[in-house]
Amino acid sequence: MKIGVLLSGSGSNLQAIIDAVKNGSLPVEIGLVLSDNPDAFGLRRAEKAGIKTRYIPPGPKRTVLSPGAEEKYVTALKEAGVELVCLAGFMRVIKDKILAAFPGRVLNIHPSILPSFPGLKAWKQALDYGVRFTGCTVHLVENSVDTGPIILQAVVPVRPEDIPETLLSRIHQQEHIIYPLAIKLFAEGKLEISGRQVRILNQVSS
Ligand code: GAR
Repeated sequence: MKIGVLLSGSGSNLQAIIDAVKNGSLPVEIGLVLSDNPDAFGLRRAEKAGIKTRYIPPGPKRTVLSPGAEEKYVTALKEAGVELVCLAGFMRVIKDKILAAFPGRVLNIHPSILPSFPGLKAWKQALDYGVRFTGCTVHLVENSVDTGPIILQAVVPVRPEDIPETLLSRIHQQEHIIYPLAIKLFAEGKLEISGRQVRILNQVSS
């Protein structure tokens, strides 16, 4: 299965996906890495790994792609033969055009146990709230912010001495485990989705 990765920043999750593909634990091909930010370090990571990259200007709004930009994202993904779109720190809300072009085929990783703490800086929201546990979630994307059927979650305890950076670093460690795993489950057809429920089918192949 060919996947496309959309990112806006550092791309540490992209790196985890690249590493998993390279070491043979993730049976997909990364067909394209797309960004709304020409300076995203994730684009440099992709180039270094020999993966096709593109920067497509997002349009004037800060939180969404303009309709014209969305069309260009869809065209670029389709031209690259992408079958599954993985958002990896893409900091814009995905709207109808991309979702209609890839129905049930857009994944996102979010740095909290959804539905707690959607939106920006979820790890800081968790720290400020005073929760004892937070974590990360991989989910299918719906036409809303950080919602959709949940595929995998990992829990990270909040330590008394945590500051935002230490907590985020431990959440990232878990993201880098569960995102490649969720993509693998999707690519191998091991996810059965019924409404909000995602069942993981028997992982032992016959
Ligand atoms: C990740 O922590 C991801 O969960 C978050 O952006 C970060 C990107 O890091 N995404 C969201 O907050 C989406 N709502 P990375 O660029 O190092 O992969």
